[in-house]
Amino acid sequence: MPNFTIGDTDFLLDGSPHRVLSGALHYFRVHPDQWRESIRKARLMGLNAIETYVPWNEHSPTRGEFRTAGQLDLARFLDLVHAEGMHAIVRPGPYICAEWHDGGLPSWLVADEAIVLRSHDEAYLAAVGEYLDEVYAIVRPRQVQLGGPVILVQIENEYGAYGADEDYLRRLTELSREHGIDVPLTTVDQPFDEMLENGSLDGLHRTGSFGSRVGERLATLRRHQPTGPLMCSEFWCGWFDSWGEIHHTTSAEDAARELDELLAAGASVNVYMFHGGTNFAFTGGANDKGTYRPIATSYDYDAPLAEDGTPTEKFWRFREVISKYAPVPDEVPAERADAPELDVLLDRSASLWSVPIFESQPFDRLPVAAEFGSIRGFMRYSTQIEHGGLLAFGEVRDRAQVFVDGAFVGTLDRELHERVLPLPEDARGELTVLVENLGGVNYGPRLGEAKGLIAPATLDGVPLTEWSAAPILLDDLAPVRTALAAGLAAGPGAGSQRRGAPLSGPVFASGTFEVASSADLQLELTGWTKGVVWVNGVNLGRYWSRGPQRTLYVPAPVVRAGENELLIFESLGAVSASARFVAHPELGQTEA
Ligand code: GLA
Repeated sequence: MPNFTIGDTDFLLDGSPHRVLSGALHYFRVHPDQWRESIRKARLMGLNAIETYVPWNEHSPTRGEFRTAGQLDLARFLDLVHAEGMHAIVRPGPYICAEWHDGGLPSWLVADEAIVLRSHDEAYLAAVGEYLDEVYAIVRPRQVQLGGPVILVQIENEYGAYGADEDYLRRLTELSREHGIDVPLTTVDQPFDEMLENGSLDGLHRTGSFGSRVGERLATLRRHQPTGPLMCSEFWCGWFDSWGEIHHTTSAEDAARELDELLAAGASVNVYMFHGGTNFAFTGGANDKGTYRPIATSYDYDAPLAEDGTPTEKFWRFREVISKYAPVPDEVPAERADAPELDVLLDRSASLWSVPIFESQPFDRLPVAAEFGSIRGFMRYSTQIEHGGLLAFGEVRDRAQVFVDGAFVGTLDRELHERVLPLPEDARGELTVLVENLGGVNYGPRLGEAKGLIAPATLDGVPLTEWSAAPILLDDLAPVRTALAAGLAAGPGAGSQRRGAPLSGPVFASGTFEVASSADLQLELTGWTKGVVWVNGVNLGRYWSRGPQRTLYVPAPVVRAGENELLIFESLGAVSASARFVAHPELGQTEA
């Protein structure tokens, strides 16, 4: 059996120097039927390894549970990497950052205020131990010395940017070794002295995360890692997008030059991302460095493979650079056809409030989302008011639409630090607040904070105490479909064949479309404001008119030959109940 170790200057594969040429591909961001193709393309670019994080919160939405079906089949993913003749790097966290909801930490964990996250706190470590039991049961038999693909496992993630708890890192190391993880263990940190100092331990192999100023970064890393191979574990060749910002791109030429410099220095690399993929459903995270910034649905990352798997200019430039240092297969990925173009009329609609997908419970205070389990997305709060005045909350996490007796009054947006809304003087009756969780903070001290309306709630300074609240249940669409079917006769499409009538939110709308054969689609929602899209029942994530992205990616495996269903939840309003599938993705305005 092969073995993979750390030598004085290099990684050693069966005792011979070996350079790791890896690319990041998160199985949870790419449709499982597309994993094989994406992995193959990595090999065709000249890479010899695939790196993935493991998102604890997706695998364990409740404690004691460990889901591994479909999108979460880590074993199958690693086996596909192996079948392609490549190595694998696994980064199980437990914290992964990754622009992922709560940095991958489960909601039941972050909700427990007695637990000190990312520390040697015993309660935290007990939960981590349960998680690693499951992850390592998959990883252990797939290590290289046992005939599998896994050559490296990372401990924590950029821990030096968060804490300095050596006992914590020591316990994670022990837990890994106790679970039979015998491959080298690594850490990754941004190349700053304090971070490299605090983020690792002797015995763990230090690596860096950076995308430029390669020479300087490697020199810093070398000071903290005096022997052994140099590795950039996250070579940032692009960047992620947040709602309301530009679409981030980097020059392929500059990125290729930096990669060249890295490889010329003899370093190993993990290209972050090789294929970014998509934050499907409600999986994206958020940053908050004074201002809350939720992550967009597309995680295209301006990577060598675009969100839909198409090789970009970076693919070809990186392939050329890699070929100077390692053999690159002659074969190249096949050309891809444009996505089919078609119009869809959404001829059914149903008001959110008419669909029985929430069961309100009474509270004498404002409950937070975690009190309802691991449900993300939307919540509904309501109370009775006798008069108007100034409505105020402690904080809104993350966006609230306020209604009085069904009439829309206004929106409070956390990103704007808004928390007060004047209600008309004659307001009276049921005050309803639709609150959206736009993504759990995945970096820094606000990691995993509570979601929902945060106390106190007051009206003209007087506390509002009698609330009823419920999460809006969107996992099972059957009640939504029933309501939509009932709404067909009176639906917005009536009398208008090509364009739907305006839609006033919060509302569900649906329609059908036909394609000759299954294909990737790009959905453009011009004139819609903010909501969520399902195709054939698969939640493809959020759209928002503020951009940057203008299209949503629909992976081919979700689309079937013949009739398909497009179902949309629009929270504010759409100019017309019609949508278009377009030939190319439009990820928005770039800086240039
Ligand atoms: C850091 C983290 C990654 C990711 C990138 C930015 O390096 O380790 O998980 O968040 O930043 O994309």
